[in-house]
Amino acid sequence: MKTRATTAELVAAMRALHQRDRVRLVEDPHALGLCGWHLRLLARLRPVSWFLINHALRDLRPSMLGVLIRARYAEQALEAALRDGIAQYAIIGAGLDSFALRRADLMRRLQVFEIDLPAMQALKRERLRRMGVEPPPGLHFVAADLGEVPVMEALATSSFDAGRPAFLSLLGVTYYLPTEVIAATARSISQAVAPGSRFVLDHMLDDATAGPEHREKRAALKAYVAKRGEPMHSDYSPEEMSELMAEAGFRTLESITMMDLGERFTRELGPLPFEIPGIFACGLYEA
Ligand SMILES: C[S@@+](CC[C@H](N)C(=O)[O-])C[C@H]1O[C@@H](n2cnc3c(N)ncnc32)[C@H](O)[C@@H]1O
Repeated sequence: MKTRATTAELVAAMRALHQRDRVRLVEDPHALGLCGWHLRLLARLRPVSWFLINHALRDLRPSMLGVLIRARYAEQALEAALRDGIAQYAIIGAGLDSFALRRADLMRRLQVFEIDLPAMQALKRERLRRMGVEPPPGLHFVAADLGEVPVMEALATSSFDAGRPAFLSLLGVTYYLPTEVIAATARSISQAVAPGSRFVLDHMLDDATAGPEHREKRAALKAYVAKRGEPMHSDYSPEEMSELMAEAGFRTLESITMMDLGERFTRELGPLPFEIPGIFACGLYEA
């Protein structure tokens, strides 16, 4: 995996901008503070941020909106896991996610392990200091380059207890990885976690499943990120991702497109303030 400071920043900016919407998939009062100064400034200048999202960064829009859907999906699955007694959450490639700050309600019962590159974690700690925010006691930073160290080895350097079931997330990352790396990562997790552990991820849909009306956006997004040196390597139908996970030792609890999630969240919250990106899906698996 490569450093994605830029995408982590964009994800935080998307969550920050979403706080202006009347119907919100994610409540995140800390997102703006976690952004760099340039994004904080742009977010305050409404016409400029509107222009950026709707014109200059138009090709990135589907993945930015997918950020909100995958975050809500993962957190609902985590809440269910907590109800079932799982009390450890490992966020793989946590970036500038403010989960441990914005979900104080869950942190009382949860130990959270954020895995990311040392430089990204240093940046995050620096931003938290600037915001005057003390990381909560249940939050553990696990600095690791996952290109060099497997997830479970990285977690073994912390107080993570591999003997107890855990919930793990891999959000906003799979599309940049070739299939062999996704499979190897999932296999190394399934082999080392306690039975009953759960794993949530999002992935890009293959051309056939994305549906004709979304294919143009999918091609534009792929071209945009490839031009910036972060090519997207992999896409799957929900069934293909389930097969990949089964080979890696996970059984599928749910495999669902973001279009279907959009409908589910519309039923929960009312009409959503944006169009649903039709080129991604989420999956929830159990070891
Ligand atoms: C798109 S961000 C995802 C942010 C977060 N999961 C979310 O949804 O808000 C991807 C993250 O993966 C991290 N990452 C990329 N390559 C990595 C590596 N080799 N080892 C550890 N983390 C890595 C980046 O630093 C970045 O924070």
